[in-house]
Amino acid sequence: MSLRNAWDDHARSWIAWARAPGHDSYWQFHGRRFLELLPGPGRLTVDVGTGEGRLARDLRALGHPVVALDASATLARAAATGDDALPVVQAGAAALPLATGCADLVVAFMVLQDVDELEAAVAEAARLLDRRGVLCLAIVHPVNSAGAFEGEGREAPFVIGGSYTASTRYHDDVERDGLSMTFHSEHRPLQAYAEALEGAGLVVERIREVTVDDPEDRWRRIPLFLHLRARPG
Ligand SMILES: C[S@@+](CC[C@H](N)C(=O)[O-])C[C@H]1O[C@@H](n2cnc3c(N)ncnc32)[C@H](O)[C@@H]1O
Repeated sequence: MSLRNAWDDHARSWIAWARAPGHDSYWQFHGRRFLELLPGPGRLTVDVGTGEGRLARDLRALGHPVVALDASATLARAAATGDDALPVVQAGAAALPLATGCADLVVAFMVLQDVDELEAAVAEAARLLDRRGVLCLAIVHPVNSAGAFEGEGREAPFVIGGSYTASTRYHDDVERDGLSMTFHSEHRPLQAYAEALEGAGLVVERIREVTVDDPEDRWRRIPLFLHLRARPG
């Protein structure tokens, strides 16, 4: 099954997961840390892979004129309805129905590890940028998706049991606080992202490796997420 279809199949679980107050890392620290990477509001901000729309709503509250897109019909509909409805288009990241050069900011928050066509998605994001525009990404850090802690302890070793360099699809079944979600993703080494950016004519101007805030947590030793900001070269 494609990653796109897998996400559509789990759309209802994702809406419940993403909208539960304080439930996941977005609400705890990750959303705030990502916002630190972004330039201020401009002409148009495009949120690719918006899901049910939480980041796009936060960006709009900060003054960004936002258009949001998602491949999943169920998620696009969720983002486009309700009290806080967004302007949303249902579209895959590899073919965005927006004009070339229309945006000064494109964001893809926790999306590119979940798309089938990485190079085409990055090329489409680059096409939307005007000459001074920036693309800001958050992904599962490739070290995180390559391995796992062996055991429960705080000092447990983090082990890459298989291959870091090979791209591999995987899924994670997670249950927390009465909610369950299956995440379908592809582990790709950092070089795959670097080559996609190079191929799209983008140069990296900022990289952040994101850990939890708590210095006692074992996820301070290993980065959970990678943040990257790039612009046309
Ligand atoms: C982990 S969720 C992130 C959603 C949102 N950005 C957030 O953080 O709340 C991944 C999203 O990527 C979307 N997605 C997967 N494949 C896609 C594709 N080819 N084009 C656009 N969106 C896609 C899924 O439908 C899902 O909404």
